[in-house]
Amino acid sequence: MKRRWIAGAAGLAALFLGAKLYAAPDNYDAVERGRYLVTVGDCVACHLVQGTAVGNVPTGGSAFAGGRAIETPFGNILAANITPDRETGIGSWSEDQFYRAMHHGVRANGDRLYPAFPYNYYTRVTREDSNAIYAFLRTLEPVRNAVDRNALPFPLDIRAAMIGWNMLFFEPGEYRPDPARSAEFNRGAYLVEGLGHCGACHTPKNRLGGDRDSLHLAGGPIQGWYAPSITGDERTGIGAWSVEEIVQYLREGRNTRSAASGPMAEVVQYSTSLMTEADLRAMAVYLREQPRRAAPAAPPAALAADDSRMRAGEALYLDRCMACHRRDGAGVPGIFPRLAGSQVVQQDGTETVLRVVLQGTRAAYSPHAPTSPAMPAFGWRMDDAQVAAVTTYIRNAWGNAASPPTTDDARRMRERLSDRVE
Ligand code: HEC
Ligand code: HEC
Ligand code: HEC
Repeated sequence: MKRRWIAGAAGLAALFLGAKLYAAPDNYDAVERGRYLVTVGDCVACHLVQGTAVGNVPTGGSAFAGGRAIETPFGNILAANITPDRETGIGSWSEDQFYRAMHHGVRANGDRLYPAFPYNYYTRVTREDSNAIYAFLRTLEPVRNAVDRNALPFPLDIRAAMIGWNMLFFEPGEYRPDPARSAEFNRGAYLVEGLGHCGACHTPKNRLGGDRDSLHLAGGPIQGWYAPSITGDERTGIGAWSVEEIVQYLREGRNTRSAASGPMAEVVQYSTSLMTEADLRAMAVYLREQPRRAAPAAPPAALAADDSRMRAGEALYLDRCMACHRRDGAGVPGIFPRLAGSQVVQQDGTETVLRVVLQGTRAAYSPHAPTSPAMPAFGWRMDDAQVAAVTTYIRNAWGNAASPPTTDDARRMRERLSDRVE
């Protein structure tokens, strides 16, 4: 039974990645399991060959040939070529060396890897699963693509500095199931905390880029977005979502409460939309049981409806937004997301709301929900004060309550977006 769903999902993932088998492997089962685990680990999202248009799915070796810039607070780090090319990829690595990279963040030649490669999560992956991933990667077509891997500014260009970072923020170790919990909870924990590396975005970071463990999964800014809390917190987290609603979001990129855009749309597209129903359910069960973790500040009181910012924002909302999101902020299920009561709208960080209004966004592509409605960009027809007013309004209308974005916040986000190379 278990075999069957793994093979089914792996088949789907194969179709999706279009990965060609380079040599007929004699370890077929491990390869197929590895193919599925690579999907769970979302390796493609970072390792796809540079220059692939956002939303396109590369195939075969080029899905793993590297070169994409991963944004970190310290600068961009280019993802490695992990095809079996002997000179520019990992073709000469042994299974042990591969496990050491996943488990300890150390390259075959002994150099330290930067945590832009989420080894601080992949360390929880079992030896057996690591070997299966290795077996799958060996079957890829080797692609010759030399990636310049040392582009960080001084002093972080010294890979040895990562020894100190690891001492502070890294605890190696495979996931140990908690015998007091159900098998489903443990499977969910293994996926979320390991290959899924959900906390890489959803756990806020300290100034050195380490996870703030006391706020595990409680939400934080990431790459110019805000990854919301995915704890069981009812106001800012997903405590009010049912298991089915979480599964639907991860499979289709939307549900009646929310829609995935930006980095989460990629997670859905390359990873969660291709995972098995059983694994999605396990993750949902685990997430819902994550305790509410103290937000850095107490939840703010809603602004009064006659506050001048609220009045300006409301007028803009009625004019520009109401047609889709409706007067009462309820949206249209499955088409226009609900803003009233929305976790995305009320996050502590204002990055996502500002960005969505300035730049617009398109929902995730997934095989389960192929047509995606788009949210238009308003940056070119609203000034910074108007963007601040309308986002202040949606964060404080209909029972919502969250800090008001300022004109300066809107200006900074606009500058940031215009600097970006997508
Ligand atoms: C969030 C982005 C991201 C994801 C997801 C990711 N990687 Fe990476 N990976 C990187 C970056 C960036 C580097 C280069 C790090 C460095 O140079 O220190 C890297 C390096 C590596 C290396 C070391 C290669 C070498 O030559 O040093 C291996 C092996 C690797 N990744 C395998 C994987 C596998 C397998 C997965 C999926 C299970 C995966 N990665 C998922 C970003 C990512
Ligand atoms: C690359 C960064 C990144 C990773 C990795 C990531 N997320 Fe997200 N996630 C985000 C962002 C950003 C949002 C907000 C998207 C939006 O507002 O449209 C989000 C939104 C969500 C939401 C919706 C929350 C809400 O209140 O609307 C859920 C649920 C979620 N993520 C679950 C997960 C799970 C489970 C994983 C691991 C399998 C994961 N995410 C991994 C960045 C990420
Ligand atoms: C033409 C219809 C349309 C109009 C007009 C529109 N939106 Fe949207 N909006 C959408 C769609 C569709 C999405 C979902 C996109 C996605 O799935 O990522 C969305 C998403 C959003 C989100 C993110 C919600 C979430 O859960 O991720 C916010 C916030 C938002 N809109 C605010 C606004 C504001 C403020 C205005 C007016 C300035 C506005 N929208 C005008 C269609 C519209």
